[in-house]
Amino acid sequence: MKRKKKVAILISGKGSNMRALIEDMKNADHPGEATLIISDKKTAEGVVYAKQHNLKTRIIDQNIGSQSDFEHQLAVLIKENKIDLICLAGFMKILSGKFLKDFEQIIINIHPSILPLFKGLQTHKKALNSGMALHGATVHEVTSDVDEGRILGQAIVPILSDDTEETLRHRVLQVEHKLYPIVLRRVLAGKTGNPVLLVD
Ligand code: GRF
Repeated sequence: MKRKKKVAILISGKGSNMRALIEDMKNADHPGEATLIISDKKTAEGVVYAKQHNLKTRIIDQNIGSQSDFEHQLAVLIKENKIDLICLAGFMKILSGKFLKDFEQIIINIHPSILPLFKGLQTHKKALNSGMALHGATVHEVTSDVDEGRILGQAIVPILSDDTEETLRHRVLQVEHKLYPIVLRRVLAGKTGNPVLLVD
């Protein structure tokens, strides 16, 4: 059997997408293994889950110093653990162009909107205010331009007339948990030809 690719997941918060990725990677047929979880917040909820599941978990404090100090520590961990691919999953720190260039493998991210619409924060509010009937999530390659990079998959949900930011966030998060594992499998298997499309 082929060697499993080593996946690092970077989080800052709840880590529900991280959990969806880890759960899928527990399957024997998965091309990847969850090798390392990194959080830039000691108190992130996802850290508790990762530790409870005996996954190697490291904190690089977001207030450690300069961006380059942070990225130096990150690069050391990534190298030491021979990571093949990085998944950002609710990781709030922006990685510099230098870090992205130095790590030659692909880095992917999940963003809660149908990119290129609604980059940045408060995407559910922006979607509600837009008057659109659709919203969703995107998994994309990470580049030095935030929320840019090749789109690898998108999931679409309806916006309902009585939606609030919270109900919409919840609906989008449910499809994020389906989309991200599918895209990760495809990327690890080298199948990045056509983007994945999920319509709820
Ligand atoms: C998700 O909506 C993700 O798209 C965005 O941040 C949120 C993280 O949620 N980047 P969680 O920590 O995975 O629960």
